[in-house]
Amino acid sequence: MKKSMNYHKIAKPFYSAFLFCALSVSPSVGQNKIQSLKSAYEDDFLIGTALGTEHILERNEKANRLIKREFNAITPENIMKSQIIHPTPNHYNFDLSDKYVEYGLKNGMYIVGHTLIWHSQLPAFAGKIKNADSLRIFMTEHINTVAGRYAGKINSWDVVNEALNEDGTLRKSVFLNNLGEDYIKNAFDLAAKADPHAALYYNDYNIEQPAKRKGAIELIRKLQAGGTKIDGVGIQGHWSIHKLNLQEIETSIIEFSQLGIKVAFTELDLSVLPNPWDLQGADVNQRFAESPAMNPYKDSLPDSIQTVLANRYTDLFKLFLKHRDKISRVTFWGVDDSHSWLNGFPIRNRTNYPLLFDRALEPKKAYQAVINLKTTK
Ligand code: XIL
Repeated sequence: MKKSMNYHKIAKPFYSAFLFCALSVSPSVGQNKIQSLKSAYEDDFLIGTALGTEHILERNEKANRLIKREFNAITPENIMKSQIIHPTPNHYNFDLSDKYVEYGLKNGMYIVGHTLIWHSQLPAFAGKIKNADSLRIFMTEHINTVAGRYAGKINSWDVVNEALNEDGTLRKSVFLNNLGEDYIKNAFDLAAKADPHAALYYNDYNIEQPAKRKGAIELIRKLQAGGTKIDGVGIQGHWSIHKLNLQEIETSIIEFSQLGIKVAFTELDLSVLPNPWDLQGADVNQRFAESPAMNPYKDSLPDSIQTVLANRYTDLFKLFLKHRDKISRVTFWGVDDSHSWLNGFPIRNRTNYPLLFDRALEPKKAYQAVINLKTTK
């Protein structure tokens, strides 16, 4: 049974027609004629990418062909975040999000909504709320309007994003401060009501680390004990080739799935650059100073590092395959290296190489390595 088919009953004819065309024109890779990441892993889990505005608007034909050939799941990198989609109390920008959903539907892709409740990239008016009633109204209207608009079209929502601190306690956000920890349950319940068919996920970075994982497990158990629907956990996967703790990742896959939910890797990228202060994870508010030592591969990536990147991706995908029954999706955080947020985070203006496609939109050694896992047993 292929896991990657039939996300939208309506879209299936499009998908089949598209698949036929893609198979007949795309180049074969390896001996067994595997055509793409999504076809290589079609019996295992979905393979996704994050789309920026330029991708949604199909501005670059080569990028557009690549996205359709390689990926069967999409996440909006920024355009569904509350700051962008709901900038002032009574105004919503649905232009790009409608196009994003349309893009997924017409290409038969699994469509992720990212993200409903997050302390970051929050509209200024919401960040300033100082009382429970007003924040409850914001959350209710926001979730009803956004999740409601795409009900039956979005396959899965990141309902709450990054609610935890590194030690596993709850992050002091405008949501926690005004509503207490129940805001998480409220958000999931509202999402379940607004779109009863979407799979609902809790999404965070570093939740493969022991203390934060413990906090995430507790959070999920509480939701389940209160009868709230939660279908999965998203481990973001903003990691580094210099530090990749496969043991903790494996323990996390096992422990999260023992809760009876799916595990997705929702924002995978492997930085090849030095990490200031050995920063781990993805707190988008952390920034560090620019310096040449922190940007060693300004012009190109040495072959030796290209190989390390390929090896780290091989290790990761071997692990993902070992636990394929527990994993619903592996999504890369971007299409190609030029588009990665890691060129600007946590230090601005660097040249990073964290993805499987290079700046010319050509597959890298790491791409071949990930495909080879499925051709050479
Ligand atoms: C990042 C985007 O990639 C950037 O373009 C933006 O400037 C900041 O946010 N965790 C998340 C993602 O859940 O939404 C973040 O995306 C990366 C960390």
